Amino acid sequence: MNKNMETETKLRNSEQYVAKSWIRKHWKRSMGLAHGKTQKELFREAAKGKTILNRAIDFLDIRVFKWIYHYLKSRFGSKCEFPDYTPFKDDNGIYALLATPSKPDAAEPVRISLVGDWATGTREAHGIAEFVKKDSVHFTIHLGDIYYVGTKFEVKDNMLGGKAQWPLGSRGSFALNANHEMYARGKGYFKYLLSSLDIRNGNGGMLHKQRASFFCLKNEHWLVIGLDTGYHSIGIPILELIINPNARLHSKLMEWLCKDVLLQDDKQRGVILLSHHQYYSQFESGYDKPASQIAQLLNRPVLWFWGHEHRYAIYGRYTTKRGRLQAYGRCVGHGGLPIEDIEDKPKSCRKCKVGLVLYDRRERTRVGKSQTPVGYNGYANLIFEGKRLTVEYKDTKQTLVKEKWEVGDGGVLKGISIEQLVDDDDLVIHEGSRLEDAIT
Ligand SMILES: [Fe+2]
Repeated sequence: MNKNMETETKLRNSEQYVAKSWIRKHWKRSMGLAHGKTQKELFREAAKGKTILNRAIDFLDIRVFKWIYHYLKSRFGSKCEFPDYTPFKDDNGIYALLATPSKPDAAEPVRISLVGDWATGTREAHGIAEFVKKDSVHFTIHLGDIYYVGTKFEVKDNMLGGKAQWPLGSRGSFALNANHEMYARGKGYFKYLLSSLDIRNGNGGMLHKQRASFFCLKNEHWLVIGLDTGYHSIGIPILELIINPNARLHSKLMEWLCKDVLLQDDKQRGVILLSHHQYYSQFESGYDKPASQIAQLLNRPVLWFWGHEHRYAIYGRYTTKRGRLQAYGRCVGHGGLPIEDIEDKPKSCRKCKVGLVLYDRRERTRVGKSQTPVGYNGYANLIFEGKRLTVEYKDTKQTLVKEKWEVGDGGVLKGISIEQLVDDDDLVIHEGSRLEDAIT
C-alpha cells in the first residue's frame, strides 16, 4: 500500500469511526446513559426509511455489540486492590516540581502537559501526541480513559505505541485512573500501564515507575495533586451504567493526603487538583463527593483540571453545595476522541454567581455519511515560574486562551490576567459571563 493510500485509509477509518455516532454517544458519556434520549433519537434518525434488515446492519455497523462484548468480557469479577505507597521506603508519591531536581534554586520554568481522554488510538490522538512532543515539557499527565475498557491489550494499543504512543515528558509521565480503566477492573491500568511510566531525575536517570493512581508534584510555591476518582466510579455491573457511583476518593488516598502531603497543614502553596471526573459541570452531572472530601482538608480555592467530558470549557470560582469547596474548574477532556459534543447547550445555573465562562463549539469539519460536525481536539500546558503559573489552552493549530496566576499570601490563588487569543464567535463566552470571571 503506497503512502497516499495508507493516509486515505487512515482518514476513511477515522471518518467511519466518527460516523458511528450512536455507539460513541453511548460509551463516551461514561456509559451512564446521561444522554439516552439523544442516543435514541440518533438511532431513530439513522434508521428512518430503512428496511428491518438495513436497520439491523446499521446497528451492527455502529459496533454496539463490540462494545458490549468488551464490557461483558472484562467487567465481571473482583477489581484490583488499590495500591498505595506504604510498601516503598524510597517513594511516597511526592516528587519535585522542578526542571532539574539537583538544582532546586535554578529559576528554570517547569512545564507540564495535561491531556484528557486521549488513549483512543485515533488519528486525533496521534495528532495531539505530536503537538505535545513538540512542546518538550518536563511532565506529561494523562487525565484518564483508555478505550474501550482499558484492558492490557488496549493499553498497549492505544497508549503504548500500538496505534498511538503517549508522549513522554523529560522528567516523567503519569496516568490517572478513570471509569474506562475500571470497566476492566483496573487490570490493564494497575498491573501493566503504571509500570510502563517513568519518573526521572532530570538527568535522564530513572527514579521510579508510577506505583499508585495518585501522586503529587511539589515545590516551594505549588502543589499539583493527581487524584483517583476512577476507582469508585464503578459499582454493580450494568446497573452502574444507569446509576453513576459517586467517584469518591479511596480512604488510602485520603490518608496519604493527610499524612504525607500534609494538605491540611499547608498554608503557603497554591493548590492544583487533577482528576478524571468533573467536580462540577454545566453540560453533564458533576461528581461533588471528591470535592467534599478535599474540602475537609482545605479551605482556600483551588484550580481543578479534569477530563471525562469531551470538550474544552472553563469555569469561574464555583462553590460546591456539598462541602463548600471553591474551585476554578477547567475541562480538558478533548484529547483523543473526535469531538462531537459541539452542539451541546450548557445548562444555566441561576443560583451560582459564577459558573461556566467559556466553551468551544467551533466546527473543525464534517465527517461521514451523516455529515456529523466535529470540533477541535486540544490540551493544556502549565508553565511554573516561581510563584507564577501560566496556563495555555491549545488546539491542533494554535493557543486559544492564556491565563496567568500567582500564589499570594496563605497560598491563595490570584488571577493576574486572561487573554482569548482566537477571535471566533464559536469560542463562546457564556451568557452573562465575562472572560475575567474565570480568574476572579
Ligand atoms: Fe470517563
